Amino acid sequence: MKRTPIIAGNWKMNNTLAESAALIEALKNAGNKNNAEIIVAPSFTSLAKVAELAKGSSLQVSAQDVHWEDKGAFTSAVSPVQAKDAGATHTILGHSERRSVFGDTDEILNKKVAAALRHNLTIIFCVGETLEQREANETIAVINSQIENGLKGFTAEQLKGLIIAYEPVWAIGTGKTATPDQAQEVHAAIRATLAKLYNEDFAQATRILYGGSVKDTNVDEIMAKPDVDGALVGGQALIAEKFARIINFN
Ligand code: 13P
Repeated sequence: MKRTPIIAGNWKMNNTLAESAALIEALKNAGNKNNAEIIVAPSFTSLAKVAELAKGSSLQVSAQDVHWEDKGAFTSAVSPVQAKDAGATHTILGHSERRSVFGDTDEILNKKVAAALRHNLTIIFCVGETLEQREANETIAVINSQIENGLKGFTAEQLKGLIIAYEPVWAIGTGKTATPDQAQEVHAAIRATLAKLYNEDFAQATRILYGGSVKDTNVDEIMAKPDVDGALVGGQALIAEKFARIINFN
């Protein structure tokens, strides 16, 4: 099955308004030879500005996270309603930094999934194992339980359009990339799990992105793998020329 590739940039806690504006303007001229879907996830302070500047281009804008409630007394949090209002069409959920630094559990993520679906935000749902878990041969079990518990209670119909990002924790920001074969192995396992939990059509249609030290120099070999449908890029998404090269992978 032919799946449209997705190249997404997670800007994390980086960029002033001016830096965000300069980056999105530069990306408008990046070209897109693979006709990929291109998504950027700025900080909330830059989201409305970036969405406004992206208007009329093919660039799409994502939140990095959303709260599970629509509004209320949740100091510092941002609701899906606010993210949408600011121009987001997508939201990342379950990024490993959210899981490990901010304590997002599968139960919390399951509520955030509900919130995003309620407001028609396309979810980029992140999963991944730690080095310890990999060395203990728990990779697939860990990822299966993140998927099963995080998405619990929703049907394939409700989850239509879901994007999964496999981000091994040990590869994030470390310069250590999973080998293309390691990525392929886990991506194929994720697709099999989706087929088992939902159905084969859903599994075949779901885009599975790889994230973790994706660079201009390694994107081609990673994207060559049959179950790798795109990349979720951190560090190199902040550098226009690097991200442009990743968008235009060979
Ligand atoms: P790096 O590309 O900096 O390793 O970050 C990956 C990531 O966490 C994207 O969400």
